[in-house]
Amino acid sequence: SRDVPQTADIAQFPVARPRRLRRTAALRRMVAGTRLHPAELILPVFVKEDITEPQPIGSMPGVVQHTRDSLRKAVHEAAEAGVGGVILFGIPAVKDARGSAADDPDGIVQVALRDLAADVGDELVLMTDTCLDEYTDHGHCGLLTETGEVDNDATLERYASAAVAQARAGSQVIAPSGMMDGQVGAIRAALDAEGFTDIPIMAYSAKYASGFYGPFREAAECAPQFGDRNAYQQDPAGSADEALREVRLDLAEGADIVMVKPALAYLDILSQVRDLVEVPVAAYQVSGEYAMVEAAAANGWIDRERIIMESLLAIRRAGADLILTYWATEVARGLS
Ligand code: PBG
Repeated sequence: SRDVPQTADIAQFPVARPRRLRRTAALRRMVAGTRLHPAELILPVFVKEDITEPQPIGSMPGVVQHTRDSLRKAVHEAAEAGVGGVILFGIPAVKDARGSAADDPDGIVQVALRDLAADVGDELVLMTDTCLDEYTDHGHCGLLTETGEVDNDATLERYASAAVAQARAGSQVIAPSGMMDGQVGAIRAALDAEGFTDIPIMAYSAKYASGFYGPFREAAECAPQFGDRNAYQQDPAGSADEALREVRLDLAEGADIVMVKPALAYLDILSQVRDLVEVPVAAYQVSGEYAMVEAAAANGWIDRERIIMESLLAIRRAGADLILTYWATEVARGLS
């Protein structure tokens, strides 16, 4: 056990020389405890209604808003590379106050899911982000009260309905990201009532109100039209206990996978969540993490590939079993 002093711990220089195991690439490879595997990577993808060409996202070079066709191609490529799953975000042509497109059977995510379920539904896991912000004209993650606050309990019904619509269209994992209290329980009950007892929930459990989501809001066209998300997402200055409580509550409500988001700035939280739970832990390397590396690399300031791998390894080492990353396909190709 760790408490018993091992010979190697007692030995001192010059007997002890940690560099011995770093001398050759083969030695380093043999003793490296942290490994990445393509199956543990999840690719977030954006699909937009009523466009004929993929639309580049200025703040996320290399990432696009897909057409239905270009999405099929991208997801096919991810599957070929061995990526474990994709998570879909939809951008509807029309938005309204209640996010009607979120649970419309002909809404963009549901339509795209039916395409993908037929194509690659057996090769990788089709997951869906369940939230309203991409679908509401005000850009908030839920329904608003008359005074402009997000109405937690009224929003739960909308999430439940969106989750059922996604499951019906072929989603294989439902991932609620809106940080409403009770969202996992409400979605679990609705899925079960509709016969989807076997569809897992990946809960965005410890999700921070983060500046690192900036580029995503361009990608998903979901920046709040007023105010911010500080009244529902977690405060970056909050204690780790707050995150652990969110995780426990989600598990009690039936979460099958829990997530920490963003990743790199919250590795302490990730590590503590890993120690707490017995389910897989996911970490989301978010849009701002991606954009910073791409921007610095484009300027020649950092070694792009090296930093991508180093950041993913750090997230893995801190405790992530699954990593959501916009580099999933590229990294998976490099690993295989
Ligand atoms: C909410 C959602 C967001 C992200 C994933 N799901 C945006 C937000 O909370 O503002 C951010 C992902 C990223 O930045 O890459 N539907």
